[in-house]
Amino acid sequence: MSAHPTVQEFTPPTVARRQDGGGLFAAYAATLKNPIEMWSEYFFHNRTFTMKAGKRTFMQVMDPVYAKQILLTDADCFKKSYIQDRLLKPAVGEGLLTTEGAVWRRQRRAAAPAFRHEALTGMVPVMETSARETAERINQAVRDTNQTCRIDIHEEMIKATYDIIEATLLSGDSRDQAYSQTQLADDITRYLQTVGKFNLLDLLDAPDWVPRILANPGINEGKKAIARIRAFAAEQIKNRQQQDHPGDDLLGMMISATDPETGDSLTDQQLLDNLITFIAAGHETTAVALSWTISILSQMPELQSRLAEEVRSIAGHEPINAEHLPALDLHEQVIMEAMRLYPPVCIIPRSVIAPVTIAGNQLEPGDHVAIAVYPMQRHAFLWDRPNTFDPDRFTEDKIKARDRFVYLPFGAGPRICIGLKFAMMEAVTILATLTRQFRFERDESHEIVPQMNVTLRPKGGMPVFVSQR
Ligand code: HEM
Repeated sequence: MSAHPTVQEFTPPTVARRQDGGGLFAAYAATLKNPIEMWSEYFFHNRTFTMKAGKRTFMQVMDPVYAKQILLTDADCFKKSYIQDRLLKPAVGEGLLTTEGAVWRRQRRAAAPAFRHEALTGMVPVMETSARETAERINQAVRDTNQTCRIDIHEEMIKATYDIIEATLLSGDSRDQAYSQTQLADDITRYLQTVGKFNLLDLLDAPDWVPRILANPGINEGKKAIARIRAFAAEQIKNRQQQDHPGDDLLGMMISATDPETGDSLTDQQLLDNLITFIAAGHETTAVALSWTISILSQMPELQSRLAEEVRSIAGHEPINAEHLPALDLHEQVIMEAMRLYPPVCIIPRSVIAPVTIAGNQLEPGDHVAIAVYPMQRHAFLWDRPNTFDPDRFTEDKIKARDRFVYLPFGAGPRICIGLKFAMMEAVTILATLTRQFRFERDESHEIVPQMNVTLRPKGGMPVFVSQR
């Protein structure tokens, strides 16, 4: 990656920070409204936050040294958090994202071949098709409204990334079905805003029978949404199993995968849970990364022009292909910097399963730790001008000079995101296709608010004005 002179100084909007030291009541009120607001000013100037509730210690770390300890060096002392289990398992069950030990390892091995470099390179044409279809839809809207039109770019990004995951996972099998893509997207949103919504009762591990309904209205609707998503996924697997050949897409690979040690295949239940895991983990995250990127760009016209120049100099007017991607440096840097300021996954939580000491705190099984990615990536002592958008932070030299664990949008260690490269390839392909053709401008009447519901979504969507470049 090469250095590009900084275009202009810009601090993108985000939520105001509470000034208190993190009192429990204030934190509870904040998490009900928007969990990202639990992080008061304290978290952006300190390395750890520790709190006791009953016998249990809750710790958050905003420091790369402790992040490395949790994710890598002492990873065996932790498992995925019970809070995450409560939010995610109702939807994704016992798949790759949520299991541990041998069960996890087997599923990771089964999915790994689909995420190797050669397999990913083969997926770029699918990514490009979806990017081009998105550009065509936007183009049509621009033409219909005579030059400049207002579109919800978040909706477009959800559609684009869903089309890609659908094509790579299911080879398009589920297109044209009664349960439409829009219904699925709505159901995923409904689930994230209800059953998947973080709640302090979950952090304090209140038992399931303590009703969340007050803090979390709509939870029954959320459960119905999950039932529809799971029924849809079960139908996809049944259809595939009735075919002569399982296919060579991700679902086909998982159906055919056998464990090198035992020779066992994944069970039907594991196939179902992983199909939902990949649908859920594999498109919304990339969509929000792109929505935040475009939101920032819509406020930085000069940077947009540089991106357009970059894509034209690398690809001319050709469709983006796998050879172009490594040369689209500035595009990659812009996406990475957007994910620093607005990480799609803001927090990486773990439950302690073996005694371990972090920053002098002795933790015991049952205690809870979390890497507070959002405050760490905007931390006053770890970043120069922490809230300023500056893609030059992601030149190759600067990345090498930095602690690897200070920037964790994809996690790290054995549980690092399996879709990291997939996500970056699709994000660059989509962004380059759009920056070459369009200008984006902020809609000042819309207040930009990051809302944390499992992922960091733009509240009320992300309307922007678009015109042809
Ligand atoms: C910008 C996009 C993405 C972001 C920010 C992201 C973020 C993350 C993070 C932070 C984790 C680790 C969670 C932890 O350690 O507790 C993770 C895991 C995972 N991600 Fe992603 N992800 C993205 C895209 C994708 C895509 C495209 C796929 C699939 C096609 C995917 C599938 C998964 C799976 C299956 C896991 C669990 C891996 C394991 O535990 O072995 N993600 N992701």
